[in-house]
Amino acid sequence: MKQIVINGQKTLTGTIKISGMKNSAVALIPASVLCDEDTTITNVPEISDKDALLDIIKLLNGTIEEEPRTLKIDSHKIESVTIPENLAKKLRASYYFMGALLGRKKHVEIFFPGGCNIGERKIDFHLKGFQALGATIEQENDKYIIHAEKLKGNTIYLDFASVGATINIMLAATKAEGTTIIHNAAKEPDIINVATFLNNMGAKISGAGTSTIKIKGVNYLHKASIEVIPDRIEAGTYLILGSLIGQNLRIENIIKKHLKSLILNLKKAGVQLKVHQHSIEVSAAKNLKAINIKTLVYPGFVTDWGQPMSVLLTQCKGTSIFEETIYENRMGHVGYLNRMGANIKVNNQIATIEGPTPLHGSQVIATDLRAGAALVIAGLIAEGTTTIDNIEYILRGYEQIIEKLTNVGANIKIIDIK
Ligand code: EPU
Repeated sequence: MKQIVINGQKTLTGTIKISGMKNSAVALIPASVLCDEDTTITNVPEISDKDALLDIIKLLNGTIEEEPRTLKIDSHKIESVTIPENLAKKLRASYYFMGALLGRKKHVEIFFPGGCNIGERKIDFHLKGFQALGATIEQENDKYIIHAEKLKGNTIYLDFASVGATINIMLAATKAEGTTIIHNAAKEPDIINVATFLNNMGAKISGAGTSTIKIKGVNYLHKASIEVIPDRIEAGTYLILGSLIGQNLRIENIIKKHLKSLILNLKKAGVQLKVHQHSIEVSAAKNLKAINIKTLVYPGFVTDWGQPMSVLLTQCKGTSIFEETIYENRMGHVGYLNRMGANIKVNNQIATIEGPTPLHGSQVIATDLRAGAALVIAGLIAEGTTTIDNIEYILRGYEQIIEKLTNVGANIKIIDIK
């Protein structure tokens, strides 16, 4: 078992380079399975979720050439359409093989996906979308057998602008006959990244990044490449950290527009930021003011920033409110923040945070990926030593987190324990 050990209160200065977006990469890799020729994906983050997806592609008989941050995937020999339970359950994004294999092979057998336990995380919108395209779905406990004689374009209204459902339906519809229109589509930048990849292969998708996406089906997808966009969640995590213990900490390789709602809220709390097109400089703010945060779908305040931001709120003067609206279970870190000295009361998905409260090192456990990121921030600003268990969650989503933080002056390491 591994543990992160942090000795806190070291000022962070220098540059952190942001990696490729986890949530884009984990959709682009399965999307390569739709292609009838080979594909190249660059700026792929070195995270364990990527390895889990590559294991699935290998099992399906795809071929992978891997160089640092570049993947060449040849899926044209893919015949198998069955993904075993142990692989499907390793991560959430295994569900993108539903849309990709349904589009490519018109058949897929797969289990309910894994991923962080942050809520019920149903996949009913995905399944309704496949059915609207003409697929039948047989469910045996946790296993789904999804089949179509042929896929036919349709008009689909999503009850909620789900990122996963939007991408999955887009994948299947790319190879359907006729036109599919997705109304109330999610607008996250990851969706534009996936649509661009598919269009580079010859797909005919318009409107990605807006709430109406139109997909004209095609028969064949040719060789193509794509670069993964920078990770706005990773950038946000380090920006929040820099707002607490940075000294001219430079966060590099960002897309300013993707961080707009975070930048606005940090400024509201009193953080001074020097925002450039592709980088931001941040220093610790002296007198942080209490603010209210409510997570929303993009371009609102991203749910994945909520937990890291709640740590900043513990250092703001007054009463802050952090309300999570996307998932039912994103407060797993709060008990540990309180153990470290925070004063947070949770009522359902609303946390009331009284600050400022100095934090002290403690033994804590990452209950999910972003809870883990929040605890890393808390450990770095706390006095004394913090040890974090269950760090596999953190390593699923943050490339070289230890190296990146050590390079800017943090005292943080991973140790093996029995
Ligand atoms: N939902 C349903 N039915 C569905 C689909 C979604 O009820 O068929 C509900 C979910 O239960 C949830 C809400 O809708 O309450 C949002 O779900 P969405 O489908 O938008 O999210 P997701 O595709 O499961 C992705 C990211 C999440 C990120 C969200 C929102 C991946 C693998 N996951 O999840 O990332 O929080 O979009 O941006 O891309 C993370 O990185 O820590 C993470 C959880």
